[in-house]
Amino acid sequence: KNSLSGPDVLKKYSVKMKEQPPDEDCPICCENLRGPSGYDATDNMAPSMVTKLQHCNHVFHGVCLLAMYNSGSKDGSLQCPTCKTIYGEKCGNQPPGTMDYHVIPYPLPGYVDCHTIRIIYTIPHGIQGPEHPTPGKKYTARGFPRLCYLPDTEKGRKVLQLLIKAWERRLIFTIGRSTTTGEDNTVTWNEIHHKTEFGSNVTGHGYPDPEYLDNVIAELAAHGVTE
Ligand code: APR
Ligand code: ZN
Repeated sequence: KNSLSGPDVLKKYSVKMKEQPPDEDCPICCENLRGPSGYDATDNMAPSMVTKLQHCNHVFHGVCLLAMYNSGSKDGSLQCPTCKTIYGEKCGNQPPGTMDYHVIPYPLPGYVDCHTIRIIYTIPHGIQGPEHPTPGKKYTARGFPRLCYLPDTEKGRKVLQLLIKAWERRLIFTIGRSTTTGEDNTVTWNEIHHKTEFGSNVTGHGYPDPEYLDNVIAELAAHGVTE
């Protein structure tokens, strides 16, 4: 999907330090930045090379940052392990499926004067890919189609656009252990909360919840999804 190699991604988002590194431990390997990395040299990168991320200015051994990148989804984006700043567009490992939505002419509790956006996520079961916890093994997909609700207000429509972006970046679902059922190798929500209850709030995943739109905007931003 992305033609940039690990060293290219580092070059794009960090600057090699020319001056003496600070007398601090590298947050990734825990060895002093003035000495070599605890990781082996790779891709012609010297183990003592130290690099500074572009915007947040956090400093790491180059080979440490490269090892971190290579152990992730290798999608061309980099996330600072210290402050979580995202460089580029972070993508997840959501399995294949569809996202649809439409407006239904009923109000949500707490939004009496407006209609409701209903989102429908459909994901079938399948076989895990190399980006999943157990490649080659089956995964289950329970409770699909999953229906979710947003108020059809300006802010609700903004959240819908952000959720569409998150879906395209494969961030809405992941594969792992469901906290609710304890089942492994199953499709689960991925840190972006959805309202799956329509007329009430028995589960805590319903309305009224005046904080919800702001909370989900913050959760989306933590994944790098913003307007
Ligand atoms: N609706 C929306 N979000 C939920 C629900 C629910 N009914 N239950 C749990 N979550 C949230 C949790 O708060 C947590 O943040 O999803 C996140 C992951 O929890 P898991 O239990 O691991 O998720 P998952 O197995 O995907 O879902 C549990 O959600 O939509 C329903 O049908 C689904 O019953 C299933 C439940
Ligand atoms: Zn940082």
